[in-house]
Amino acid sequence: MKTKPIYILGIESSCDDTSAAVICNGKILSNVVANQEIHAKYGGVVPELASRAHQQNIVPVIHQAIEQANIDKKDLNAIAFTRGPGLMGSLLVGTSFAKSLSLALNIPLIAVNHMQGHVLAHFIEEENQQKPPFPFLCLTISGGHTQIVKITNYFTMEVIGETLDDAVGEAYDKSAKILGLPYPGGPLIDSYAKLGNPKAFPFTKPKVDGLNFSFSGLKTAILYFIQKKVKENSKFIEENLHDICASIQYTIVQILFNKLQKAVQQTEIKHIAIAGGVSANSEIRKVLKSNEETLGWTTYIPKFEYTTDNAGMIAIVGYLKYLENDFSKDTTAATARLKVSEN
Ligand code: KG4
Ligand code: ZN
Repeated sequence: MKTKPIYILGIESSCDDTSAAVICNGKILSNVVANQEIHAKYGGVVPELASRAHQQNIVPVIHQAIEQANIDKKDLNAIAFTRGPGLMGSLLVGTSFAKSLSLALNIPLIAVNHMQGHVLAHFIEEENQQKPPFPFLCLTISGGHTQIVKITNYFTMEVIGETLDDAVGEAYDKSAKILGLPYPGGPLIDSYAKLGNPKAFPFTKPKVDGLNFSFSGLKTAILYFIQKKVKENSKFIEENLHDICASIQYTIVQILFNKLQKAVQQTEIKHIAIAGGVSANSEIRKVLKSNEETLGWTTYIPKFEYTTDNAGMIAIVGYLKYLENDFSKDTTAATARLKVSEN
């Protein structure tokens, strides 16, 4: 028997990417992302500019997603949108648009937690991509979050460790700013790091109890180190850029990997997934894959397009909620703060 196709439109606008995706029974048909170049020169996301850019992008992005999926908007069964966490002005653009479209098409609305989206992106149907079995651990690393989450069910998630200050993506972006590189700095540091020596400049790793993280001390250590070196040699950064990036990346990935090892010891769960923008990082992917066998872990690495913010991950959560008839009222409000455990 042929299963009836269920089409969900996902809308993501929590930070600086406007994205729309169409998913059919767990398979992505389109996933359009409009990045906002405007923030590059400011070294970080400017909230007011982000919401204005979302307003400009949202209609063409949604049009394109529906067109690429090769469906008519009347075929849609529901609309899923990011309700939070994120920048309030940005969230409001996606939320208001989703509500009006659901009203116009007379189809249900599904509110999605962005952090659950990052984790559940692992359940998008993809060839050669294994889905993690429950329970599994997910290291969610993005520009705003650094968490180790225990997932016992699609919608039962518990944070067992998180950052006490900066997120790991922030550590990358702030380090990049110190080095005079544009925002977002993570991908640039990653690509320069591949050309350098990771042991060239040792940085002290923070000592944080349990499964929590801290990255603000590392950022300060990098700042003082660079200031001192530049005083001695004004060309220090350009002459050593690859080695500096490799050393920063090595330190960050070691911090993440050590905590994951601790989390596995503590929970005895050996199915490990990574998610969020920083999970695009080549070093964290390499370290996880190369240690898989010796540690007896099974690791789940998402496809690149589902790591940084995208509506595909919102659409898959929408689909999973649709199957459970978990719909939202049109009075559901966007919220800047939302824990991964909250639906
Ligand atoms: O998940 P995401 O797109 O947005 C948030 O929800 O925050 O993550 C963005 C973050 C930025 O800090 C960016 O620098 C970082 O992900 N990032 C990377 C890489 N690609 C993106 N960090 C390290 N290596 C990468 N290859
Ligand atoms: Zn994100």
